[in-house]
Amino acid sequence: MAEVVLRELCKSYGSVVAVKDVDLHIADREFVVLVGPSGCGKSTTLRMIAGLEEITSGTIAIGDRIVNDLQPKDRDIAMVFQNYALYQHMTVYDNLAFGLRNRKVPDGEIDAEIRRAARILSIEPLLERRPRQLSGGQQQRVALGRCIVRNPKVFLFDEPLSNLDAQLRAQMRLEIKELRQRVPTTAVFVTHDQVEAMTLGDRIVVMKDGYVQQVGTPLELYRRPLNRFVASFIGSPAMNFIEMRVEAQGDGFRLSSEGAGFDVPGRAVPRLGALAGRSAVVGIRPQHARLGRPGAPDQVAIGGKLMVTEQLGDEQLLAVRIGTADFRLAGVDPELTFATGMAIEAAVALENMHFFEPDSGKALR
Ligand SMILES: Nc1ncnc2c1ncn2[C@@H]1O[C@H](COP(=O)(O)OP(=O)(O)OP(=O)(O)O)[C@@H](O)[C@H]1O
Ligand SMILES: [Mg+2]
Repeated sequence: MAEVVLRELCKSYGSVVAVKDVDLHIADREFVVLVGPSGCGKSTTLRMIAGLEEITSGTIAIGDRIVNDLQPKDRDIAMVFQNYALYQHMTVYDNLAFGLRNRKVPDGEIDAEIRRAARILSIEPLLERRPRQLSGGQQQRVALGRCIVRNPKVFLFDEPLSNLDAQLRAQMRLEIKELRQRVPTTAVFVTHDQVEAMTLGDRIVVMKDGYVQQVGTPLELYRRPLNRFVASFIGSPAMNFIEMRVEAQGDGFRLSSEGAGFDVPGRAVPRLGALAGRSAVVGIRPQHARLGRPGAPDQVAIGGKLMVTEQLGDEQLLAVRIGTADFRLAGVDPELTFATGMAIEAAVALENMHFFEPDSGKALR
């Protein structure tokens, strides 16, 4: 069993708070992704788990041991960095053997481990090459191989794909998923790319300014973001936000802004009541706005002026100005032609709308 349990984990550099009160229970064999913008504390969290960074306060447990005071080499972890950190003057074979030789593993065992890892990663023909004679994807595989040969309890990844071009990243994502099936090991993977987070993670931890914002499965985060930050960070193109005035009306609410106005039944979002007479932020994903008039009673109309179109081949994206808000529609028929400045009408199902408290950004349902 190799659970990883973080309790009230904090890290400060002088007055800079890098990580604050992180509580996280990672199950045995779970693949957890830490995601968030630059500087939010992802690498610091990972490096504290690895033992490369001292903890300011809190505890880290790996398996059933508190590892706070253990050296990195005694934590039974293996880490892959962004730059792979391969030894350029050594062959692939020697790179893979290095850590095991340091630990005085017998040569025969080392050889067996390297053959096993090379087979899993399809790098058998590359073992006698040096890293500079490899493509980026092959170097990436060697870096993964160095983890596999150690049979660690936990894999730690810090943006291992960020040096690769888009196509290779997509390929390596699949390889890492396949690798998981062959070598099921607890893993913590850091990225600032939400697509990587969504596609790789059993669960995702969204961080901002050193704090965990939300922990959940990819679908939970997509469907039920707890705040506006998570809502805007997960999903592509990003969720649209419109600030709207809330008025109590009958047993529901009237929401209005320049360019949009609709009724929301009280039972749908009762917590809008606290904002009556003030404003709420309405969030709508670009995929959830459909061009045209509402076709069902549970849909509402929004409308604005077309600013720009983007042709993607299988769909078009429209950028529409609704009052003062910029609003994007996705999934528009690529064959349709539009004139800049024309009026655009779209329909959105109420169940696909998100509502946020304007000051705190907290979700209202
Ligand atoms: N050695 C250090 N001394 C002072 N501040 C540091 C140090 N290392 C990191 N920080 C600060 O701690 C915060 C978190 O840094 P961290 O490297 O964990 O971010 P990150 O989420 O990994 O970002 P990125 O996506 O850019 O890699 C940042 O504000 C950073 O400036
Ligand atoms: Mg980092």
